[in-house]
Amino acid sequence: MAELTGKSALVTGAGVGIGRAIACALAREGASVLVVDFNGDTAQETAELIRAAGGNALAHVADVSDEPLVANMVEAAVDAFGSLQVACNSAAVSRGSGPIHNFTREVFDQTLELCLTNTFLCMKHEIDHMLAHGGGSIVNISSNASLRGQPYNTAYAAAKSGVNLLTKSSASEYGHKGIRINAVSPGVIRTPGVERYFEEQPKIAEGLKQAAAMRRLGEPEEIAEAVCFLASDRASFITGQLLSVDGGAAVK
Ligand SMILES: NC(=O)c1ccc[n+]([C@@H]2O[C@H](COP(=O)([O-])OP(=O)(O)OC[C@H]3O[C@@H](n4cnc5c(N)ncnc54)[C@H](O)[C@@H]3O)[C@@H](O)[C@H]2O)c1
Repeated sequence: MAELTGKSALVTGAGVGIGRAIACALAREGASVLVVDFNGDTAQETAELIRAAGGNALAHVADVSDEPLVANMVEAAVDAFGSLQVACNSAAVSRGSGPIHNFTREVFDQTLELCLTNTFLCMKHEIDHMLAHGGGSIVNISSNASLRGQPYNTAYAAAKSGVNLLTKSSASEYGHKGIRINAVSPGVIRTPGVERYFEEQPKIAEGLKQAAAMRRLGEPEEIAEAVCFLASDRASFITGQLLSVDGGAAVK
């Protein structure tokens, strides 16, 4: 039997790329999935993909950096499916790159808001519901940029390192209350956005492939498998962990 049958999940940033693959994989494992994105068209596409494959999904439009909309997102999952046991916080946008002395305060703040504060807001409201309804499992999506830092991507790297410690600190707070909280750290993954960037910068693409011990990019579905595992009861004694899914880039 599928390992998430009877459970209800939400995935933020599920309109494209990694978030879409996660939503599809959780649904394949039997979860009913709220597909959350601020792009209503792509959220709808993901929900339709899930339903076409025989799963249960509902699209939900929200900007998860806006607290009232985040509270409403959790309510929408509960209204639609009766509960919420699994949440994957994948939505993120990096607003700028370049040397730190050229970053404006505004761009730095926006990146923190769209990569870190949004994750905090989602966790806050997901945990609030899970505490009152028997627990659950949260998986945040971090990035290998958080591990050793990433030149010219400072705001994003700092924000994602914040996601790691949000994950570890809160895992410690809620482990004895039935809520497991983990994170997945992707290496370079072949999403539509990454592919567009590589078309413009083919040399960078080759360099990033070589950066992984496995000498290739990852696929969104490979991140999704790790999320499914951490969300499921197969990971019942795992909390506060950061799992790199990166073809060995972090150990090379
Ligand atoms: N692609 C990679 O190589 C890679 C590597 C490391 C980490 N990551 C992380 O994986 C996650 C997914 O990455 P991706 O490449 O699939 O991203 P993407 O940019 O292709 O998709 C992100 C999705 O999230 C949505 N979104 C962003 N902010 C939102 C918000 N505030 N509210 C609602 N929706 C929002 C966007 O509309 C989009 O559909 C992100 O957290 C990213 O930082 C990606």
